[in-house]
Amino acid sequence: MRKDGPPPTVAKMVSCFETKTILITFLALALVMLMWNIPPYYQNLLSTTSSSCSSDASTATALSITAANASLPNSTASPVAEQKYSTPKTIPNADPNKRVFQPFGNAAALFVLMGAYRGGPRTFAVVGLASKPIHVYGRPWYKCEWISNNGSSIRSIAYKMLPDWGYGRVYTVVVVNCTFPVNPNQDNFGGKLTINAYYGPSPRKYEKFTALEEAPGSYNESKYHPPYDYEYLYCGSSLYGNLSAARIREWMAYHAWFFGPKSYFVFHDADGLSPEVRAALEPWVRAGRATIQDIRGQAEFDGYYYNQFLVVNDCLHRYRHSANWTFYFDVDEYIYLPEGSTLESVLNEFSDYTQFTIEQNPMSSVLCLNDSTQDYSRQWGFEKLLFRDSRTGIRRDRKYAIQAKNAYATGVHMSENVIGKTLHKTETKIRYYHYHNSISVMGEPCRKFLPPSAKTNVTLFEKLPYVYDDNMKQLAKTIKEFERKSIGNLQLRR
Ligand SMILES: *[C@@H]1O[C@H](CO)[C@@H](O)[C@H](O)[C@H]1NC(C)=O
Ligand SMILES: *[C@@H]1O[C@H](CO)[C@@H](O)[C@H](O)[C@H]1NC(C)=O
Ligand SMILES: *[C@@H]1O[C@H](CO)[C@@H](O)[C@H](O)[C@H]1NC(C)=O
Ligand SMILES: *[C@@H]1O[C@H](CO)[C@@H](O)[C@H](O)[C@H]1NC(C)=O
Ligand SMILES: *[C@@H]1O[C@H](CO)[C@@H](O)[C@H](O)[C@H]1NC(C)=O
Ligand SMILES: *[C@@H]1O[C@H](CO)[C@@H](O)[C@H](O)[C@H]1NC(C)=O
Ligand SMILES: *[C@@H]1O[C@H](CO)[C@@H](O)[C@H](O)[C@H]1NC(C)=O
Ligand SMILES: *[C@@H]1O[C@H](CO)[C@@H](O)[C@H](O)[C@H]1NC(C)=O
Ligand SMILES: *[C@@H]1O[C@H](CO)[C@@H](O)[C@H](O)[C@H]1NC(C)=O
Repeated sequence: MRKDGPPPTVAKMVSCFETKTILITFLALALVMLMWNIPPYYQNLLSTTSSSCSSDASTATALSITAANASLPNSTASPVAEQKYSTPKTIPNADPNKRVFQPFGNAAALFVLMGAYRGGPRTFAVVGLASKPIHVYGRPWYKCEWISNNGSSIRSIAYKMLPDWGYGRVYTVVVVNCTFPVNPNQDNFGGKLTINAYYGPSPRKYEKFTALEEAPGSYNESKYHPPYDYEYLYCGSSLYGNLSAARIREWMAYHAWFFGPKSYFVFHDADGLSPEVRAALEPWVRAGRATIQDIRGQAEFDGYYYNQFLVVNDCLHRYRHSANWTFYFDVDEYIYLPEGSTLESVLNEFSDYTQFTIEQNPMSSVLCLNDSTQDYSRQWGFEKLLFRDSRTGIRRDRKYAIQAKNAYATGVHMSENVIGKTLHKTETKIRYYHYHNSISVMGEPCRKFLPPSAKTNVTLFEKLPYVYDDNMKQLAKTIKEFERKSIGNLQLRR
């Protein structure tokens, strides 16, 4: 289900910096000023931000004030906006040979924050997007500071990871790891994590923002150790386009059964959830088994394919200590245990590994058996799409699962930022059925019918060999029964 990303929509910036960044920066600044005396680098901030708004800024200044008080209460907006922007640079231009360079607008923000999470007693992860050219051609860096409610503050170096394999476009995904020598909130007074994001090697040009706040008393050490709330967590990537509500319903029922009661599902809606699709998931959300994150705002930022690398990293860190294993795969894929073993026993075998990848059984999303005894219109997708591409030895995408506590950043097909071993030889223990594109077929998926002999023979269809594989069909009755027991009543009440 790959498509081209949306076109860049970056026309909204009215001043040297994006309005949101300004607001965040100033709210943080105002709070800090109130609470504590101004450390010297805040003064740097004021001078650097105004110097990076180069040349004749008078029009830009007027525009930015309008934008600022459009969304802030009057009382705070005007003085703050004055302070930050009303220092237009008067450029003495006596020399007719001195040329002036006037920037308008801003193509990509220095940093776009999606989420920031505590990842342990001493460590945090900040997940966001950043201008790709800045990272490709420049040397931006980050600094972390914890400002405690008790008045003290502690800084740490940060290291950044760019986990999107270079696939980003205007934006690339950045995970900033802030690790402190001690727990910065040990006394549990609360506080906040702020990030300095630098434009380049110079420590003089940067933006500062608050990434995360911890309320007094909210730190709880035991959250960062097993036992975790769940055994298995599903992190779905961005859902977009037209999705089939029937297929989503079937996927959800199957995996709620497959992963068992101590599992949880995280979906990300990048404008792919029609009311019908939403209705298919809603009973599971109400039953406490799933959540739907509205990430439609991502369309503003031109990353890779609906920012799926951003989304999987946000999910990793948000739920880093929520489950033993976190699974990454798509909603047209069904995890399957070929040997009839239990998931728990398979994963116990894998427990020395931080990560394992999963091989697929590629299924046709078109072919069905010409069998007049079957009423296909009433059957589920995996009950009737029974032809598997039997070619072997060709390289195909894999999906994966990790012990998230050992991962620092992640990707779509595997993570390259983990401590510990990765296992690839898993094909006899765990696989997935991949009904490629079936999720975006609105009507009946059975569109080509193979004669009954296809059940026992290899059939060539569009020059590819297919064999009959009804492993999934054999589970259909169990899954339907499970669905009825789990959410049948919830569905009736809808
Ligand atoms: C913003 O504030 C300025 C100065 O206080 C005022 O002149 C202007 O009308 C305000 N604009 C809006 C949209 O409220
Ligand atoms: C903000 O300004 C607008 C117009 O300038 C005014 O109508 C409104 O009452 C003001 N709000 C506050 C909270 O002062
Ligand atoms: C503030 O809290 C930090 C961490 O909890 C602690 O190390 C520091 O000593 C505290 N400072 C004061 C002044 O209480
Ligand atoms: C800390 O979390 C654990 C498990 O999540 C919970 O049992 C305990 O009550 C929590 N402690 C506090 C002080 O909230
Ligand atoms: C989704 O399907 C509807 C009708 O089925 C169609 O009008 C619409 O253009 C489709 N949207 C996308 C994004 O493909
Ligand atoms: C999850 O981890 C806990 C604690 O490490 C362990 O006792 C339990 O068996 C694990 N469960 C699964 C399904 O791996
Ligand atoms: C299915 O088989 C019947 C007879 O076995 C045949 O009449 C019919 O044309 C076949 N349908 C398709 C779509 O191949
Ligand atoms: C940050 O990196 C350190 C190792 O350098 C690691 O121990 C820690 O778990 C990481 N934190 C997060 C939140 O990924
Ligand atoms: C196709 O299947 C039929 C019946 O199952 C069998 O008799 C025949 O030999 C098979 N043909 C091939 C080429 O395998």
